[in-house]
Amino acid sequence: MNLFSRLKGTALLLGLLLVAPGAAWADVKAPAQPASPTLVAGKPGHAAVASANFIATHAGLEVLAKGGNAFDAAVAVASTLSVVEPESSGLGGGFMAVLRRADDGKEVFIDARETAPAAVQAKDYVNPDGSPNRDTALNGPLSAGIPGAPAGLAWLAEHYGRLPLKTSLAPAIRTAREGFEPDPRLRKAIADRAQIIRRWPASAAKYLPGGQPPAEGRKWRDPDQARTLEALAEHGRDGFYRGPVAEHLVDAVRKAGGRWTLEDLAAYQVKERAPIGVDYRGYHIVTAPPPSSGGVAIAQILNMLAGFDLAHMDGVQRTHYVIEAMRRAFRDHNDYLGDPDFVKMPLDMLLSPYYAAGLSQSILPDRATPSSMLPVTSLFDPGMHTTHFSIIDKDGNMVAVTSTVNYELGSAFVAGDTGVLLNDEMDDFALVPDAPNVYGLLGSKANAPAPGKRMLSSMSPSLVLGKDRCAVIGSPGGSTIITQVLEGILAFIDGEDAAQIAAHKRFHHQFLPDKVFVEDGTFDAATAEGLKRMGYELTPRESWGFMNVVTWDLRSNRLDAASDPRRPSGLGKVQ
Ligand code: GLY
Repeated sequence: MNLFSRLKGTALLLGLLLVAPGAAWADVKAPAQPASPTLVAGKPGHAAVASANFIATHAGLEVLAKGGNAFDAAVAVASTLSVVEPESSGLGGGFMAVLRRADDGKEVFIDARETAPAAVQAKDYVNPDGSPNRDTALNGPLSAGIPGAPAGLAWLAEHYGRLPLKTSLAPAIRTAREGFEPDPRLRKAIADRAQIIRRWPASAAKYLPGGQPPAEGRKWRDPDQARTLEALAEHGRDGFYRGPVAEHLVDAVRKAGGRWTLEDLAAYQVKERAPIGVDYRGYHIVTAPPPSSGGVAIAQILNMLAGFDLAHMDGVQRTHYVIEAMRRAFRDHNDYLGDPDFVKMPLDMLLSPYYAAGLSQSILPDRATPSSMLPVTSLFDPGMHTTHFSIIDKDGNMVAVTSTVNYELGSAFVAGDTGVLLNDEMDDFALVPDAPNVYGLLGSKANAPAPGKRMLSSMSPSLVLGKDRCAVIGSPGGSTIITQVLEGILAFIDGEDAAQIAAHKRFHHQFLPDKVFVEDGTFDAATAEGLKRMGYELTPRESWGFMNVVTWDLRSNRLDAASDPRRPSGLGKVQ
């Protein structure tokens, strides 16, 4: 059976499974045809940056003040986050970015995701009894993919920036050399991972000076990472992927049991890909394609919601349709998605408004659909510790960047005296068939590891382009990235400003477990009661993402920037 008929069959099966006596079909309207991308006219005349750390936001503003554009500022913010927020992202990790160039309206997805080393061995991630080895998947050099971030930064500067890479990396190098006061979040991350950090002398030397996490109020310097950044500034991508830095990285990884080679580093390539575009209520959303699963899921959810008149529904009814759309998107896509250079994916079908309309047909208007009633596919988990920043410059260039080392402080492995903390992104692969990963979720064959392959992500950097208003948006948060960004997009389209969007209370459903995870204060008592009566299990959840949003009102040329109020270290600032 080909994929098309398999998908058509799935939509039909959904419908058949859900026919119940007395059930009324939801009123699904004909899906809208996708429109061509919105023409964003005008220039704001000033700029705005929102990131998870005030030092990084200021680094972006500094580079803009030197004549850089949004893409130079992105290099400054990302490299500074590598120094001040290493628990979330860094040179040893990767990033995904969606950008829009004002001059010619070019919209592009920059894929600087990590890749599996050529010598990747599935057996490294399995215990002798056949159970998954969570330790090698999450800690130390076997858990690390070949980093994409340094190549991505060099690519952004060379292809989209105005300033030399050296100028845009200068704030990060200065911060690493002169030092900064680690914020409580970084100190907590180090304390959380201290036992693992102690396994490797270079990791302990960096993160546990004197055997303890850096003390509050004391400056902390990172001269080793400063040297590596200087090599990148001096020689571009070759400063990291070839020569002394590459030799030190490979030497440290191999001595500690990893499988990297110099060829893996030299072969790393940034990929430019066409972003996913979806139209919803007069806005054009530009978001992340595979190897992220985020954009596909967001597009599917918006396509499903386009069939319902959410604006005229009460809170219970509206939330019900959003949850059911989330459920179906998460059920659906995990089976198919992986690295597009390795896996054939039925994207036309998954992104089709008609396919979404078929899925919507199975949503009952008056009750939850138990996930057990939908045909089961496998699930994945993308990890929890990631960062996002958003920038619009004075000319209207926009960039949304989500960057990660995966788990808190990545693999906790610092590669010798390079100062580079390596990611543990290998856990984003489905390492062991049919075995859940660290978050109890499963993966599919499409996301199995292979030499040089990129692991599936849910990073969802997005642009929302309208005739009168635009937004640059994204968030960390593992699999909740997708639903948090979706809820941010819906809030923006409903007219909320940057601060309201960043503060907006959140909920999440990902098919399995069949629960709605809810932030305290999201629903009033009556709405919560209404949802429970429909069959939803509401489960409180404390940890939510770190959204950073910039909005642009084209009518007044006003920019607003907001960082998630849940985390005080962030800063959104207009210049
Ligand atoms: N490691 C988090 C993600 O890529 O989704």
